[in-house]
Formats: sequence, C-alpha cells, structure tokens
Amino acid sequence: MMTSRNFGTRSIIKDFFQQYANDPASLGQEEMEIWWSIIEQNSGELVGLNTIIEKDVEGQKAFDLGYFLLPTFWGQGYATEASRRVVAYAFGELELRSLIAIIDPGNQASQSVALKLGMRLEREVLRSDGVTRRIYRLEQEDWKKASA
Ligand SMILES: CC(C)(COP(=O)(O)OP(=O)(O)OC[C@H]1O[C@@H](n2cnc3c(N)ncnc32)[C@H](O)[C@@H]1OP(=O)(O)O)[C@@H](O)C(=O)NCCC(=O)NCCS
Repeated sequence: MMTSRNFGTRSIIKDFFQQYANDPASLGQEEMEIWWSIIEQNSGELVGLNTIIEKDVEGQKAFDLGYFLLPTFWGQGYATEASRRVVAYAFGELELRSLIAIIDPGNQASQSVALKLGMRLEREVLRSDGVTRRIYRLEQEDWKKASA
C-alpha cells in the first residue's frame, strides 16, 4: 500500500494569491500543473511521481495524467494504484471533466496502466517534432459510473 503525497499545493495556492493580488485578470490564463510523490508505505521510499499538467493538444486544452516510477519499482502495480488516487482527486476534488494520457505507441507498460485506469484509446497524434503519440482518455462521467 502507498500514499500519494501532494507536495505542491501549498506553494501553488500561495503563488495564486500573490498573482491574484498583483493581476486578477491573469489568473484565468494560467495553466495548471500538479506533482505528487509516490511513497512506499512500509519503507518510506520514494517510488515515483504522478502529475496532472494542463496541455494544449492540437489546439484543445486537456489535462494530462502522468506516472513515472523508478525502475526498481516497475511491475508491482504501483503506477496503477497511485494513479487511481490521482484520478479520484482529479474528478472528485478538482472536478475536471476529462483526463488524458499521452503515450508513446511503443510503451506497452504505460498503455496497460491507462487501460487499467479505465482509459480508452482515443486517437493518435503527430506532434510538430514528427513524433507519434497515442491519446488515451477517461471522462469524469464514465469514471463516476464505474466507481458507483
Ligand atoms: C509505465 C510505468 C509507470 C508502469 O509502472 P508499473 O508500476 O510497472 O505499472 P503496473 O505494474 O501498474 O502495470 C504495468 C503493466 O505493464 C506490464 N509491463 C511492464 N513492463 C512491460 C514491458 N516492458 N512490456 C510490456 N508490458 C509491460 C506489466 O506486466 C503490467 O501488466 P498488467 O497490466 O497485465 O498487470 C513504469 O514502467 C515507468 O515508470 N516507466 C517509465 C516512465 C513512463 O514511461 N511513464 C509513462 C509516460 S506516458
């Protein structure tokens, strides 16, 4: 079992307040970025990171779920376990409507995690640098139905 510890919220909120005081109109243009550390409960060791980063995908705003583990912790279900909590936070607390994962077509482990989270392959995109990526997506509505 693990905990996902959100270590960025306090400073993000402080920055937001400062920014609001300086220039209220600028807030609506800010892109969101949240990072979590994934900690193994028994050992207290850092296992990896989860992220939600607001991105522009082919002209559309999207919230990109990221999961990155240190190699010694691969293949134990940790990415799926931690990401499930981040998904619940994204839909439950942040009330995002939809999450995506942008994945290299050759990255089987990552696509397997996305599928286990209930994501569906939406489409492939060709980035401006010529790299192909698969977009997986999970709608809040579908997640709510599945977790009811
Ligand atoms: C992708 C990553 C987060 C997966 O973490 P993980 O904790 O090993 O994931 P899980 O154990 O929850 O599930 C991984 C699944 O992929 C499978 N898998 C693992 N390595 C694999 C490989 N090289 N090829 C094919 N399948 C693989 C596992 O057997 C498991 O399968 P299952 O769904 O049938 O159980 C981890 O490999 C990683 O950090 N990779 C580098 C960073 C990265 O690519 N992040 C994603 C960016 S989009």
